[in-house]
Amino acid sequence: ALLPCVKASPLDGQAIGNALYGLQSLSSDSQVVRQLLVVFASKLKAFDCKMTEQEVSNALYGLQFMDLSITEVREIVDVLVTSVTSDDAEQSPSRDRRSQRSRHPLNPLASSESRLPSNFVAVAFPGTLSGERCRYLVDIGCDMGGFVRGVAQSRPEMRVVGLEMRSHAVTYAVARAREQGLQNAAFAQGNANVDLACLLRQVQDTGEVETVTVNFPDPHLLPEHRERRVLRGSLVKVLAEHLLPETEVLFQSDLALLVEEARAAFTVSRCFRATPWQSRQDLVDTERQKVVRRSGGTVHK
Ligand SMILES: C[S@@+](CC[C@H](N)C(=O)[O-])C[C@H]1O[C@@H](n2cnc3c(N)ncnc32)[C@H](O)[C@@H]1O
Repeated sequence: ALLPCVKASPLDGQAIGNALYGLQSLSSDSQVVRQLLVVFASKLKAFDCKMTEQEVSNALYGLQFMDLSITEVREIVDVLVTSVTSDDAEQSPSRDRRSQRSRHPLNPLASSESRLPSNFVAVAFPGTLSGERCRYLVDIGCDMGGFVRGVAQSRPEMRVVGLEMRSHAVTYAVARAREQGLQNAAFAQGNANVDLACLLRQVQDTGEVETVTVNFPDPHLLPEHRERRVLRGSLVKVLAEHLLPETEVLFQSDLALLVEEARAAFTVSRCFRATPWQSRQDLVDTERQKVVRRSGGTVHK
């Protein structure tokens, strides 16, 4: 009954983004799911829908465990990536993205975290070093890089690095940073639970990490999905081993539960001490934070 109803509905980009987000626990093995993907893809193409970064990000999140070797899944991912328009109404880098996408045929969305390959791609900054050691901010799970680009803009003396496991989000972030002419923003593709140590070592060859941020990590609320949460004991251990004393780790989420869990993981490690959150002018709102604010939600830090 669902299919004709969806076909007949005049859906816009936001509705399609939300609908795809809702598919997250369904499998692309299902015939109905594949048919739904075809309908959504044809609607997006027919209406030439434009979606914000956040809507595309939500939609891709819903597809994360689907098999990218299935034509219908690949097709909708392709359509989504070319549907994105920037939130801040700057020019869309669609031509750039299209040419870069073909260099990323493998997509980690198709893998569950336990099967996720270590697809770490090292960071490369456009700007050269002045000779002095740099101060870095590392953002874990940066998505399309809005926060990283914002901080890079407000702190030109710092280098800002985003780590993100989804390749097309990284491709987009790199293209936008290039368009914005940012010399001090870079993005690494990889899984924080596998690749963070490597990233921190690379960064520390040329400077010191001043701040690490984990903004609105995916909640993975189902008990059987707990292991997929990015901030857990093993990640805290990597941070403790690689960071210098006094490095700040900032964590925020709209879910109090996740913040409590993160606080417990840091406390148990005995390597960190909790301090009250101090507001900083340079820390712009993240994409998810904007959504939470707009909907009147609370941000826990
Ligand atoms: C809910 S989004 C939040 C994005 C952004 N930080 C914000 O606040 O708008 C979480 C992001 O973390 C990424 N992510 C989740 N687990 C990750 C991991 N283990 N390593 C790297 N990135 C991860 C997801 O792909 C997604 O882009």
